[in-house]
Amino acid sequence: MADLGHTVVGIDTDQAKVDLLSSGSAPFFEPGLPELLSAPHGRLRFTTSIKEASGASVHFIAVGTPQIAGGNAADLSYVDAAIEALLPHIAPGHLVVGKSTVPVGTAARLAERVATTGARLVWNPEFLREGFAVSDTISPDRIVYGIAADDHTSVPQLDEVYAAPLSTGLPRIVTDYATAELVKVSANAFLATKISFINAMAEIAEATGADVTTLADAIGHDVRIGRRFLNAGMGFGGGCLPKDIRAFQARADELGLSSTLAFLGHMDQINLRRRERAVQLVIDELGDLGGRRVVMLGLAFKPDSDDVRDSPALEVARRLHALGALVVATDPEAIPSSRRSAPELDYDPDVRTALRDADAIVLATEWPQFRSLDPVEVASWTTARVIIDGRNYLDADAWRAAGFTYRGMGRF
Ligand SMILES: NC(=O)c1ccc[n+]([C@@H]2O[C@H](COP(=O)([O-])OP(=O)(O)OC[C@H]3O[C@@H](n4cnc5c(N)ncnc54)[C@H](O)[C@@H]3O)[C@@H](O)[C@H]2O)c1
Repeated sequence: MADLGHTVVGIDTDQAKVDLLSSGSAPFFEPGLPELLSAPHGRLRFTTSIKEASGASVHFIAVGTPQIAGGNAADLSYVDAAIEALLPHIAPGHLVVGKSTVPVGTAARLAERVATTGARLVWNPEFLREGFAVSDTISPDRIVYGIAADDHTSVPQLDEVYAAPLSTGLPRIVTDYATAELVKVSANAFLATKISFINAMAEIAEATGADVTTLADAIGHDVRIGRRFLNAGMGFGGGCLPKDIRAFQARADELGLSSTLAFLGHMDQINLRRRERAVQLVIDELGDLGGRRVVMLGLAFKPDSDDVRDSPALEVARRLHALGALVVATDPEAIPSSRRSAPELDYDPDVRTALRDADAIVLATEWPQFRSLDPVEVASWTTARVIIDGRNYLDADAWRAAGFTYRGMGRF
């Protein structure tokens, strides 16, 4: 927003994050973000003091909506707390803009609270992808505004905020609160379904000797299907898709529509089974894992990120460790975040030394650095002769030619 020309104050309750941001550092790895944080325009500052919201007229709410402990629903306590903290600092004519991913019905409830101040609420779901967050924010592929039926002022106000991206002619959809909330969760449900669908085909391929990658290439040529998001592997993870499909099911249950979204429960199970499959492939190749050294190439839930929330890679690493393996994990960015949530694992930022004396290698995150490893060179660094390609990301023939037993997901 500051880069788009606005004067911005970022408010977070986490003092350590605010301190890092204030010093010009990002508290997580995201390509292009450090450059934006160190831009010398002076329009961006950070604080923990909600009082500083007073000087603004547009207030974005982007706090977390994690899965509740012991259930599937979204925990809305952070959104509620942020709105309540903001209320004393907003005035008639102000705009509160909801960005967090919330269950359908939340915006209508929050709008009543916001209306007590004379301000308006717009629900403006966020579609950014981690790893592409900067470009997705500066050049989004669409913008959705969910507004109240009697609201005739918020659209031009928010158009002013988004003037730069809107000037490129991107689609801007104005709708009601419920549709705006559902656009976000249904988009994530669809994406999760697409990945789980191809992973279900991977299970069938494993039982029949078929190759899921060739299958995906072939069906992906049909423009109605498309090849993107059709890579079989260890499945989806991260801070969004898993918790969002669970929260969507929980909301459907509340609406008396459990059977409508029951398929998402199956998608979730298919997805989680692929993590077990990766573990099983290591067991198939090594037998008893006690004392065997397994190197994980990748920990983040996706490349270009250090996010390990519900990361398939980190979970597989933990499972292998729990089964007695000596797990040594490497990742270009996600070692510090992994160390915080899995201190029991060994970490080595250097792929070459990590690989020494290994018994098996598991490719778990599609970092380009790992694809560019030369299998012949790797064979000279390590005793391992087994590679499990949890993402069907490597050149199977090249690894086999270098003397490795290559095992992919849904392919032989
Ligand atoms: N991460 C993504 O790729 C992505 C994409 C689209 C939408 N979303 C949605 O955006 C929301 C945020 O996601 P995230 O990944 O950034 O979560 P996060 O947990 O990484 O960050 C949330 C931040 O909110 C802060 N916070 C909590 N309560 C606060 C309060 N009362 N006042 C001020 N700050 C407070 C926390 O300290 C934390 O820094 C979620 O609803 C998520 O579903 C995330």
